[in-house]
Parts: sequence; structure tokens; C-alpha cells
Amino acid sequence: MSAVVDSLRSDIDEIMPGVIADRRYLHTIPELGLELPKTAAYVLERLKAIGVEEIKTDIAVSGITALIHGTKPGAAKVALIRADMDALPILEENKVEYVSTHAGAMHACGHDAHTSMLLGIASLLMERRDQFSGTVKLLFQPGEEGPGGAEPMIAEGVLENPHVDAVFGMHVGSGLPVGKVAFKPGPALASADSATIVIQGKGGHGASPHLGIDPIVVSAHIVMALQTIVGRNVDPIDTAVVTVGMIGAGEASNVIPDTAEMRLTIRAFKPEIRDFLEERITAIATSVAASYGATANVMYERGYPPTVNDPEFTALVQQVTIETLGEENAILAPPRMGAEDFSYFLEQRPGSFFFVGTGNEEKDCSWGHHHPRFNVDEEGLANGIEVMVRVVERYLND
Ligand code: NI
Repeated sequence: MSAVVDSLRSDIDEIMPGVIADRRYLHTIPELGLELPKTAAYVLERLKAIGVEEIKTDIAVSGITALIHGTKPGAAKVALIRADMDALPILEENKVEYVSTHAGAMHACGHDAHTSMLLGIASLLMERRDQFSGTVKLLFQPGEEGPGGAEPMIAEGVLENPHVDAVFGMHVGSGLPVGKVAFKPGPALASADSATIVIQGKGGHGASPHLGIDPIVVSAHIVMALQTIVGRNVDPIDTAVVTVGMIGAGEASNVIPDTAEMRLTIRAFKPEIRDFLEERITAIATSVAASYGATANVMYERGYPPTVNDPEFTALVQQVTIETLGEENAILAPPRMGAEDFSYFLEQRPGSFFFVGTGNEEKDCSWGHHHPRFNVDEEGLANGIEVMVRVVERYLND
């Protein structure tokens, strides 16, 4: 039973067949990266039918924004709601009637559900314009799974005209039972950076090591020394990962190669830890190499930043979830080491990114994200829609 007494839940129940139909259609046409011609065309057609205003297309190739203006007198704040639209290069193994028709591509992370939920939210908010003041900006984003769509959309100005004051997003979760909504104030998802380190030694005959500088021995010392960053430098209360996932050098047992190469993935929750890791990795690699007479060239590449939720906005999500779904269904989530490019929006504006339970073992909807049998229990989508609509309306009316 809902503690909030108004017609929203019954309005949602009425639109759910349409939301599920949208989701299933989008599931049949998964597209990858920034170029999502069929998906964007479908979203555009639906937005026109719903009657939203100021639709802008082709932002960061396939991104779309649109506005809904509230008519209730009050403050004129702008709240942005984001849905990602892209899929993954995975061959679907589900035997559902709405299975992917694009060989080798699959909505295996639930972005089809995110897009259909936002279309549902748009149609509800259009009918409820007298219930809120200010403006809702709808944002449909490509490229979340790579190469990244949030950053280029921000660069193209989506946080201005009108100026956005707060940002909201949600992600379905197969590990979260259907019926529940989870939130996490502060750092919720990790940053994902990478580095390539090339050690330049001096090659030569394997029987005459004294005439060369062995980059393999140097890289072995660097690998061990890098382990001391998390073990000895990062505060034990903080979280960090430094993984050397690839190392390569040499071709023959009796030849010392000129160079060795290693590649790393680096994860953290706090921006300052992230900066610290880059500083330490660079310092250790270059100084260990120098101590053996070699050089290390560190090419550090920043990926998505950590997703850091504003505590006040997340408290609002928590409050609304308790009121709509009950205390037992409002879950304080642990941080996760995955990354998400909604983080770029949260770097620019306060807001909150929360998780909607769509896991259900009985319906075979508990496979992990990015698995060829991933699926969502569509029963959960109504909860995401309701919490998002109430959060946004309450923020705009406050
Ligand atoms: Ni995802």
C-alpha cells in the first residue's frame, strides 16, 4: 500500500502496458556507442506524440533533449532526468519473443528499460503540469557503455538553455529484488582509469646481461612496487584498486628485449584518491625504472570519474522511496566498483543516481548485467517511474 494518497500510482498502472511495449521494442533493436539511428528515431517519434516542447536532436551524434514546463506558480528551477539508450556487443541467449534482432548486439544492461521509463515519465509529467513549477529537462544519452556520451553532451551545452539546477538518473539492477529501490549518498560507483607503461631498457644477448638493461626485470620490480600504493599509501579506510592486467616483453629465451609494456586498470571512489593514484603510479614507475638505468613512459588515461551523489538529494530519494514503497523496500546500497558516466553530470550539478530493483529469480531475471541472459522483471519499472516523478516534483516545488 502506498502511503502517499493521490492518483499517480493508478496513472502509472494505466501507462505501464505502453512502457513495457516501448521497452520490448527497444530490446529488439539494440545499437552500440554514439550512433543509435533506430533508437533515437523511435524516441523522437514517441516524444512528438507525447507533445513535449523544444526537442533537440543529434547531440553527441544521437542524444536528444526536450522540455516540459510546469504551470504551478512557484520557483522556476530546472531538473534534468537522464536515460541512457545504448546496448552492448553481446550475442543474446534469451528465448523471449522480443529477443534482439541485431546479431551481436544486446540490451544486456537494461538501458532499454531506462529509455522506456523516461518516456513513461514524460507522458505522466505532461498530464501533471499543473502539479509542479519550473521545468523538467528530459535527456536521452547514447554511448554510456563507451566511448561515453555524457561528457560530449555536456560539452554541447545540455546543462544550459535553460540552466539545469539538479540532475537525476536511475539504473535497473538484477542484483536488487523487484519492488526495492536503492540509493547511496556520497561515492556510489568508482572511477575507471587506465594506464600504459612502456619500460625502455637496452636489449642484447641473453648470455651477456651485463651489457644491456633488462626491461623485464625492471617491470617485475615495478609490478611489486605498485602493490605498495594500496597496501601502504592509501588510507585503509578508503578504497582503491591498482591491477596490472597485461604485461608483455620479449620473443626468445636467449634475447633481452629493448622494451616491456604493461597495462593497468585503476579504480577509486574519491577524486582526491584518484589524483593520488595517478601521482604514485607515475612516481613509482619512473623512479624504479631510473634506479635500474631504464626509463618508464607512463601514459595515463582518465576514464569515467566516480559517481558521487549529493547527500541532500539522496536523502530526498530515500524519503520518497520510504513514503511510496515502504521502509522495508528502501535500501541503503553499498558502493560498487563499476563505473557510470552519469558521474559527469554529477560533477557539474548536484543530484542523485539511484537503483531500481528488477531482479527476480522466479522469472529468470537475476543474471548479472552484461550477461547474455540478462533480463529485467518489468514489474519493477513502475517503482522507478513513481519514485522519479515524486522526487522531481518535490524538488521543483520546494
Ligand atoms: Ni548500464
